[in-house]
Amino acid sequence: MQLADRLGRIPPYLFSELREKIRRARARGQDVISLAIGDPVEPTPDPVVDELCRTARSPENHRYPTDEEKGMLAFRQSVARWYAERYGVELDPQAEVLALIGSKEGCHHFALARVNPGDAVLLTDPGYPAYRASILLAGGEPVSVPILAEDGFLPRLNEIPAEVCQRATAIYLNYPNNPTGAVATPEFFAQLVAWARERAIAVCHDNPYSEFVFDGAPRLSFLQALGAREVGIELNSLSKPFNMTGWRIGFAVGNPDLLRGIAQVKSNTDSGIPNAIQYAGIAALERCAENIDRMLTIYERRRRLVADTLTAIGWKAELPKGTFYLWLPTPDGMGSLECADLLLERAQVVVAPGRGYGEHGEGYIRISLTVPDDRLSEAMERMRRALT
Ligand SMILES: Cc1ncc(COP(=O)(O)O)c(C=O)c1O
Repeated sequence: MQLADRLGRIPPYLFSELREKIRRARARGQDVISLAIGDPVEPTPDPVVDELCRTARSPENHRYPTDEEKGMLAFRQSVARWYAERYGVELDPQAEVLALIGSKEGCHHFALARVNPGDAVLLTDPGYPAYRASILLAGGEPVSVPILAEDGFLPRLNEIPAEVCQRATAIYLNYPNNPTGAVATPEFFAQLVAWARERAIAVCHDNPYSEFVFDGAPRLSFLQALGAREVGIELNSLSKPFNMTGWRIGFAVGNPDLLRGIAQVKSNTDSGIPNAIQYAGIAALERCAENIDRMLTIYERRRRLVADTLTAIGWKAELPKGTFYLWLPTPDGMGSLECADLLLERAQVVVAPGRGYGEHGEGYIRISLTVPDDRLSEAMERMRRALT
């Protein structure tokens, strides 16, 4: 069966090859430890599970979701309260909040709502692979903006050529940043707003790691910057702060026109998030903030374990300021795929090769801290033995 041309434009997913190698190693009976995926292993907090069980029993929640394209008002009100409390950002739940099936859905529907075929769309490189796919599926032309270690992995906005900016209608960014672990600053967001406003470029700031910052770094929202909601939206998610990746719930906040556009796409595609999941989401936002503190303590301990182990064997392993990833330059300038292969072969440990996040991810690997402590310790011990 011939598939649509648009699918052929999406670059091959580098991680599929890795997945196949893992499958083969496991089939050979090897005990493989994967540090490649950001998916918390700790359970979702009890109040969230209880609320799902309770609300799933009500027949009225078995029907199409209430306010299907925007999400339930009660959920949007909870999001508005969360943003006020955590980030000091006041939102109108009617016009400035939209429920999503996770932040990833928002990435895709933002492109469908904003990008016309042929538009240039900027995205950071390295970056979360779904941005490129979303741009391509919308018929846009992805244009990479390198983010480099020497700049704290923030883009040099003013160095993006004027010719590209003229053709560009949107930009995707994400801080705290997957994969680099870098965080932004209020000054950077202010500069981003001014830059985007001057060029009429819509900003999609994807912020699912907003709660995961270390060493006293402030929790930031792009919407804290003056004028931000005139130029863009922020995506956020319950996946990471509440260990809810499998529940598929997140939200978009900010520019009402962009949100209306996304809602229009949604009402013609997915009919929204099941009510019971939205009630569970409310329970998370209203009653489970302490889960974040608990997870921060866990990730803090794990990031130190990884950094200390690798530093002790001469690997340049800096502590990330945000997220639950470590972004490490490969030893001796090794290629990222070569390094990932070597660790799989010698230590049966899987890491994500930086090349999978873009051209500028080459020369790095990413380690995720979302594995149980004992497995992470075991992985570090194996890496230590394999590399010394
Ligand atoms: C930068 C970034 N955006 C979005 C997502 C997807 O989040 P969600 O589960 O809310 O769709 C991820 C997941 O790893 C991510 O790293």
